[in-house]
Amino acid sequence: MAALDSNCFQIELMGFEDMEEVLKIERSSFPAPWNRKIFTGELENPQSYVFLLKKIMGEEKTVQGYICLWVVNNETYISNLAVDPSCQRQGIATALLYFALEYSFKKKSKRAILEVREHNYPARCLYDKFDFRQIEIRPNYYKDTDESALILKLELTMFFSLSTTKKP
Ligand SMILES: CC(C)(COP(=O)(O)OP(=O)(O)OC[C@H]1O[C@@H](n2cnc3c(N)ncnc32)[C@H](O)[C@@H]1OP(=O)(O)O)[C@@H](O)C(=O)NCCC(=O)NCCS
Repeated sequence: MAALDSNCFQIELMGFEDMEEVLKIERSSFPAPWNRKIFTGELENPQSYVFLLKKIMGEEKTVQGYICLWVVNNETYISNLAVDPSCQRQGIATALLYFALEYSFKKKSKRAILEVREHNYPARCLYDKFDFRQIEIRPNYYKDTDESALILKLELTMFFSLSTTKKP
């Protein structure tokens, strides 16, 4: 996996001031994008965390990707992940996912769960690299494309016992 230079990038929690940048990436990433109301709900929900990866250029910081997660009862649900199309294949999703998993693990989460479209090849490759395993399939779950949803799980204790070899 590509490694990011930590002098040029930082990961931080989303604030309302980041909304426009996030919505722009969201709209260019999904056939049924989340809207402002959904992101507002995430920002107001104490169980939800939206982390942004920002590129630092002098005084300027630009959002290049984000990940949303819920940490509830020792389980983490990853509800959203997207990277600006012009910044993909540089290790940004890898850095965000690793950060989110580490954050969840420190909050005593035992496993991470997510849902992916069966034909979303880039995302499935990414999750494969982290050793997410399929635990369920929901046929024809996405009505816009008739795709199935795959439910994937990663056991965090196992993942972090091997983390020296996996850290991006
Ligand atoms: C999926 C997504 C988040 C990946 O972001 P990214 O920053 O480009 O991913 P990374 O650079 O960290 O790539 C990590 C690995 O993912 C896989 N991957 C990423 N993009 C890929 C592509 N277009 N084709 C095949 N594999 C891909 C590769 O295995 C890659 O490792 P490698 O570069 O060493 O081969 C990005 O393509 C995206 O935002 N897609 C639209 C939104 C989306 O589908 N989100 C996931 C919802 S479940």
